[in-house]
Amino acid sequence: MTAARDAAYFDQWYADMAASPVRDAIVARTLGLPPELRFASVLPWPGVAELTEHLRLPPDGLLLDIACGRGGYGIEIAARTGARVVGVDFAAVALGHARAIAAARLPAGRASFHVGTLTATGVADGGADALMCVDGTQFAEPPQAALAEFHRVLKPGGRLALTCWAAVTPGDDRVPARIRALDLARDLPAAGFTGVEVHDRPEWLAAERDMYEQALAVPGPDPAVLSLQNEGRRALAAWGSMRRVLAVAARPA
Ligand SMILES: C[S@@+](CC[C@H](N)C(=O)[O-])C[C@H]1O[C@@H](n2cnc3c(N)ncnc32)[C@H](O)[C@@H]1O
Repeated sequence: MTAARDAAYFDQWYADMAASPVRDAIVARTLGLPPELRFASVLPWPGVAELTEHLRLPPDGLLLDIACGRGGYGIEIAARTGARVVGVDFAAVALGHARAIAAARLPAGRASFHVGTLTATGVADGGADALMCVDGTQFAEPPQAALAEFHRVLKPGGRLALTCWAAVTPGDDRVPARIRALDLARDLPAAGFTGVEVHDRPEWLAAERDMYEQALAVPGPDPAVLSLQNEGRRALAAWGSMRRVLAVAARPA
């Protein structure tokens, strides 16, 4: 049985991570992510360039990073494109870290972070040029409600890029229920998106496996590493049951 993935769970997860240079080093080695951006998820560094390309942000455009965590991916994309970034997450601890990272990485006034959920982001209708959600959509209940919210906050013509996992075989009960509940090829068009493409990213999955194996080889009581080890044991026991996917789409113009 896994713990409820509520805001208190994630606040503790982020507090543990902040004190774990060992976890940072494993993530840097296996995913290629610079530790100073304090990523929380498992999108490898080359994925940032792919997301940037798909989002097609205009200079000074508005990027929403939903379920942003410590905000590293959105901050990096804002730095590369000159966009402004607004990050939303329900974990207040993570948002404190995100503000500090943005202050170090972006000019003043280019980033803001506020508490909100995947289904109630607190963002105005139709204001965003692009929206990203890295490894977060599956936490909404149901995930289709997050897709409806993403559609609401994007401008007509605005671009969407999501990273997630998907069951190799629909209904496989080795796959977490929250992943089984989401089928981006089915659900994005149903939420009103157009130009939907769902790409497999086996190389991201290979990097993730490497990360779990390296975490499992580390001794010691570091809580952030223990959490990674627990996730790794679960993932490796069902390895082959999930694909890693990048979905891109647009709100019709
Ligand atoms: C795997 S982490 C990814 C964080 C960030 N996107 C990254 O890649 O570094 C998942 C994030 O989803 C957030 N989250 C989970 N359920 C949420 C919800 N219902 N509303 C808002 N955020 C949520 C968690 O707090 C966590 O920051």
